[in-house]
Amino acid sequence: MISQNSIQQILSRIDIIEVVGTFIKLRKRGTSYLGLCPFHNEKTPSFTVSPAKEIYKCFGCGRSGNTIGFLMEHEKYSYVEALRWLANRYNVEIEETETSPEFKALQQTADSLYIINGFAQKIFSEALFNTDEGRDIALSYLQERGFREEIIKKFGLGYNSEQRDSFAKAAIAAQYNPDYLQKTGLVVLRDEKLVDNYRGRIIFPIHNQSGKVLGFGARIIKKNDRAPKYINTPENEIYVKSKLLYGSYFARMAIDKADECLLVEGYTDVVSLHQAGIENVVASGGTALTPDQLRLIRKYTNNLTIIYDGDNAGIKAALRGLDLALEESLNVQLVLIPDGEDPDSYVNKVGAAAFTSFIAQNKKDVILFQLEIALRDAGNDSNKKSAVVNQIAETIARVNKAEDFTKQQDYIKRCSQMLRIEESGLHTLVNKFIRERVVKEEGRRNREDAFPTGDDGQTPPAGTDDAVLALLQKDEMQERAFVRSLLEWGLKPWTETQRVADYVFEEIAENQLDELIDNKALVRVTHLYKAWYNEGLEPTPKNFLYYDDLTLSTLVVNIMDVNAEISPNWKEHYEGHIATREELFREEVFSTLNYLKLRKIKRLIDENQLDLEKPHTAEEQIILLQTHQHLKQMEISLTKTLGTVIYR
Ligand code: UTP
Ligand code: MN
Repeated sequence: MISQNSIQQILSRIDIIEVVGTFIKLRKRGTSYLGLCPFHNEKTPSFTVSPAKEIYKCFGCGRSGNTIGFLMEHEKYSYVEALRWLANRYNVEIEETETSPEFKALQQTADSLYIINGFAQKIFSEALFNTDEGRDIALSYLQERGFREEIIKKFGLGYNSEQRDSFAKAAIAAQYNPDYLQKTGLVVLRDEKLVDNYRGRIIFPIHNQSGKVLGFGARIIKKNDRAPKYINTPENEIYVKSKLLYGSYFARMAIDKADECLLVEGYTDVVSLHQAGIENVVASGGTALTPDQLRLIRKYTNNLTIIYDGDNAGIKAALRGLDLALEESLNVQLVLIPDGEDPDSYVNKVGAAAFTSFIAQNKKDVILFQLEIALRDAGNDSNKKSAVVNQIAETIARVNKAEDFTKQQDYIKRCSQMLRIEESGLHTLVNKFIRERVVKEEGRRNREDAFPTGDDGQTPPAGTDDAVLALLQKDEMQERAFVRSLLEWGLKPWTETQRVADYVFEEIAENQLDELIDNKALVRVTHLYKAWYNEGLEPTPKNFLYYDDLTLSTLVVNIMDVNAEISPNWKEHYEGHIATREELFREEVFSTLNYLKLRKIKRLIDENQLDLEKPHTAEEQIILLQTHQHLKQMEISLTKTLGTVIYR
C-alpha cells in the first residue's frame, strides 16, 4: 500500500488541467477550461474543468469528480492505480507500506519491458549507424528508399544484425532477466539458448503516448519468400496491438492542429509522409480499426481520412472498423492511391505538394464510396441491388447521434439519388434499422440495470428474463414513486405560499395526468387526491387506506410500503447517504415528477420519429424535423435539470 505521506505528496502536486489535458483537448474559457466530454458522445464541448475547485463536470451527461476520480473513470484505474499514475507523472517516490503481490509483479514486469525496449532501441540504432553491416546493408537500403538521416533518427529506426544472437548477447551481458527478454519478443529460446528473433531486419520502434518504446516492427531487407516481411512484438503487458496506432506519438500535435487524422497502412508510409512534412498521420498495420484506436483518434479530431492503395485487401480491413467510426460521430473520408502505389511510394514519386493536393481532391465520403462500389458490383442484378439498399440503410442507421441528424438526412437524400429510389422509402428502411438496434440495446440495458438491487421484491421471477417485462415494471416503479411522494409530502410547504400539492398540480395542469402516468389505478389515486385537496380536505395515505375501493386501497398500501417499493433511482442515489428521505422531500418530489415528464418527451420523440418515416410533403417534413429538434432540446434541458438535482 502507498503510505499516507506519499499520498499527501501526490495530492499536493496534482494539476487537474494538466492531468485531464493529457487525455482531452482543453481550451481556456474564462477561469475554467472546456473540452469534449470523454464520457459521452458530443460535438459541442460541455465538459468543464475548474482548476480553482479542482473538479470537472460535464453539463451534458452530468458526470463530475476530481482528478483521481477522472483517472479512475477515464482510464478505468483503481484508486491506487490512479495514485501511481500521478506519482509517476510528478516524480513522487512512492513509499510502500505493503503492496498486493500481483500488482507489484505486473508493475515490475511492465517497467522491465519498457527498460529492455529502451535498451534495445539504442542498440539497434547504434547498429544501424555505427557498424559496417548496418551501414552497408540497412542504412544504404533506407537511403535508397529515400529516407534521410534526420527522419530515421526522429523515429528511432535501427537495425539488427544477421548474426544468430548479437542482441541476445548484449542483453545478457547487460544482465537483463531472460524471462522478460523473451516477453519482449526480441529473443527466443532455441536449444536452451537465447537467440535473436529479428535478424537482418530494419527495426521500427513503436512508441506509446508519452514516447516510451512499447514494441517493435521488424522488416526484412533481403527478399526471402519463406520469412514473413514484418515480425511484430507479441502481445504482452505493454504491447496491446488493439490499443495503439503507429506514429501517434509523433503525430498528435499535427493532428490537433490540422483537425484531421490521416490513416495509412504501413510503418514506411508514416515515416515517409512525415519526412514530406505531412505529420498528422498514423498507421493501423492493416487491420480493422478497434474502438480503442478510434478513441485515440477522437481525442484529437473528429475527422478521419483513410489513405490506402486502391487494389488492396487492407482497404477492406479498414472499412470493417467503419461502422464503429460512424457511430462515434467521426467524419470518415477515403482516398485511394492510384496504380499499385502506396502512400510511401506515391509521395516519393510526386512530392509533398502534389501528394497533399491529390488527397484534397480525391477525398470521398466513405458511405457514398461504399455505395458506389457496391452498385458497380451489383450491375443490373436486381436481387443484388436490393441487398445493396439494405446494406446502405443499415450503415446510414449508424449515423444516429442527435447532433448527426442533418448528416443522416443528407445521406438519405444523396444515397436515394444514387440508388434511384424514393427518398421516403430509404428513410423508412433506415428507421427500421434504427428501431431494431434501439430495441436490442434497450433490452440489454434494462436487463443490466433495471433492478440493481436484486432482491428488492421487484425483480422479475426467475426465468422471465424478458426485457419488455423489466421495462414495464421499471416504468411503473417511477409512476409509483411519484404518487408516493405526493401522498407522503403533498402537504409540506414547497415555497412560502405554496404546498407541494399546489406545485405538483400546477406542473401537471399542462401535462395531462394520464399522459404522464400509464397505470390507470395510479391516475385515479392522483385524481382523487386532487379532488379532495381542492375541496379543502387534507388528504393523507390514511384517507386512501380506508377508501372503499379495494383496488385503490391495496395499491396505496403497497405504495407506502417503503422497503418493498423504493424506486431504483432513490436507492442508487441516496441510500447510504446521510440525509433521510424526509430531509430530501423536495428533491424527491421534483425528480419523481420530472422523470415522468422526461419519459413523456422521449415517447413524443419516438412517435415523431415514426411519423417521419411516412411519406410527407416538404413542408410537413420540415415541421416534423423542427418538432424533433424542439423535443430533443426539451429532453436535454430536462435531463440536465434532473442531473443537477440528483447529483448535487
Ligand atoms: P505492407 O506490406 O504494405 O508494408 O504492409 P509497408 O509498411 O508498406 O512496407 P514497405 O513499404 O513494403 O517496406 C503494411 C503494414 O502491414 C503490417 C505492417 O504493419 C506493415 O507496415 N504487416 C505487413 C505485418 O504486420 N506483417 C507482415 O508480414 C506484413
Ligand atoms: Mn510500402
